[in-house]
Amino acid sequence: MAPKRVMLAVFFVIYSLMFFSAKSETWVKGGYWYSRSKLPSSGINSALYTHLHCAFADVNSTSYELSLSEPDEKKFSNFTDTVKQKNPSVLTLLSIGGGDASYSTFSSMVSNSSFRKSFIDSSIRAARLYGFQGLELGWASANSSSDMYNMGVLFEEWRAAMKLETGNSSHAQLILTAAVRFQPGLDSRSFPVEAMERYLDWVTVQAYDYYTPQRYNFTSAHAALYDPTSNVSTDYGISAWISRGLSANKMVLGLPFYGYAWTLANPVENGIGAPATGAAIRRGGAINYKDIRDYVLRYGANVMFNATYVVNYCTVGSTWISFDDVEVVRIKVAYAKDKKLRGYIAWETPYDDNWMLSQAAGK
Ligand SMILES: *[C@@H]1O[C@H](CO)[C@@H](O)[C@H](O)[C@H]1NC(C)=O
Ligand SMILES: *[C@@H]1O[C@H](CO)[C@@H](O)[C@H](O)[C@H]1NC(C)=O
Ligand SMILES: *[C@@H]1O[C@H](CO)[C@@H](O)[C@H](O)[C@H]1NC(C)=O
Ligand SMILES: *[C@@H]1O[C@H](CO)[C@@H](O)[C@H](O)[C@H]1NC(C)=O
Ligand SMILES: *[C@@H]1O[C@H](CO)[C@@H](O)[C@H](O)[C@H]1NC(C)=O
Ligand SMILES: *[C@@H]1O[C@H](CO)[C@@H](O)[C@H](O)[C@H]1NC(C)=O
Ligand SMILES: *[C@@H]1O[C@H](CO)[C@@H](O)[C@H](O)[C@H]1NC(C)=O
Ligand SMILES: *[C@@H]1O[C@H](CO)[C@@H](O)[C@H](O)[C@H]1NC(C)=O
Repeated sequence: MAPKRVMLAVFFVIYSLMFFSAKSETWVKGGYWYSRSKLPSSGINSALYTHLHCAFADVNSTSYELSLSEPDEKKFSNFTDTVKQKNPSVLTLLSIGGGDASYSTFSSMVSNSSFRKSFIDSSIRAARLYGFQGLELGWASANSSSDMYNMGVLFEEWRAAMKLETGNSSHAQLILTAAVRFQPGLDSRSFPVEAMERYLDWVTVQAYDYYTPQRYNFTSAHAALYDPTSNVSTDYGISAWISRGLSANKMVLGLPFYGYAWTLANPVENGIGAPATGAAIRRGGAINYKDIRDYVLRYGANVMFNATYVVNYCTVGSTWISFDDVEVVRIKVAYAKDKKLRGYIAWETPYDDNWMLSQAAGK
């Protein structure tokens, strides 16, 4: 009897060690789903992901509570149940904010403790009501030293509220993340790195949109892994976060499942850095991977790879498209592993073509 008990005890010790180390080492295979995308959440191949983010919830400008539009509430309320059908262990997060979020609403919400409390309490209630396992703040327009300081206070209070809430519930503690720029910034308006390190599970590094056809009159790799001529690259950004004190395993690398189409000034000058005259298509030249693949196949375009920047591109007449194809995704995921980051996250899963990029990333 006794040896058996000892064996059992040893087994449990080993088991819990495995469990906890596995838990802290979770390699995040993340993806966003945006409610405006054409693909319903039931179309996501969630078996290829460990975490799916449902985007975006907003903040009410008078009550500072989390808010969802009526159509979004319908879609978000069954998001988790829907994606768990193909992968019962996938975890879901509700992303708050995004590119269209109101700067002034977020800035005042974080600036006042009673506004923060309304936001925090309502966000936790919403996560539980709709069955999400985590929450993400995506406030890209934060731009002053007080915004950044207050954001850090928000993270501290949010985490404390989550801890308290777990004590009252049978659920696991909610995951807390933030979507941030590719680098922390060097001046006083830098992100609150210390609070992020302490209170967040990880951050999503938005490692894309460095150059767009509307803002730059030369062709470019908008999500270059490296750039020998400037500090605007993913590798520079990741190193900058680390040197500011954010642990590598607190970073999930954003992967763009889209590219940009420029109009060349001269079709025969078609390398990276060639003169350009703006976006070749509407929506500022943004084009998703599925549409890029259709375009490449339709015109039989020759897809080039540039290893200096780590980017693919192709030229059809005066249209020049740069994007991340399967090989670039593989290199970026290998980079994330090499740097001991926490994982990767795609913007956005519906942009994939037949799940090719998702599969390449997941291998
Ligand atoms: C914001 O909250 C206020 C007060 O609760 C409410 O009257 C208003 O309808 C909300 N606005 C939106 C857009 O949900
Ligand atoms: C989820 O909700 C949406 C919007 O109301 C609906 O179209 C869809 O059928 C629902 N899916 C499931 C699996 O219930
Ligand atoms: C927060 O806002 C409330 C309501 O507007 C106000 O009464 C309170 O003084 C503010 N608190 C701080 C710390 O600014
Ligand atoms: C921050 O952004 C807002 C909205 O774009 C703008 O009104 C404000 O002037 C900016 N503040 C600073 C310090 O740049
Ligand atoms: C958790 O329980 C404590 C003590 O009963 C209570 O004061 C607190 O408001 C509860 N928190 C939440 C988020 O339900
Ligand atoms: C590109 O823009 C820069 C400044 O924005 C300008 O100096 C330059 O002449 C432009 N080049 C072309 C080819 O339009
Ligand atoms: C890049 O940043 C480093 C410091 O991180 C600085 O020394 C260097 O001058 C910067 N290079 C460019 C091209 O801005
Ligand atoms: C990538 O493109 C740049 C700019 O055109 C060029 O200087 C560089 O040689 C290319 N890298 C490789 C490996 O071909």
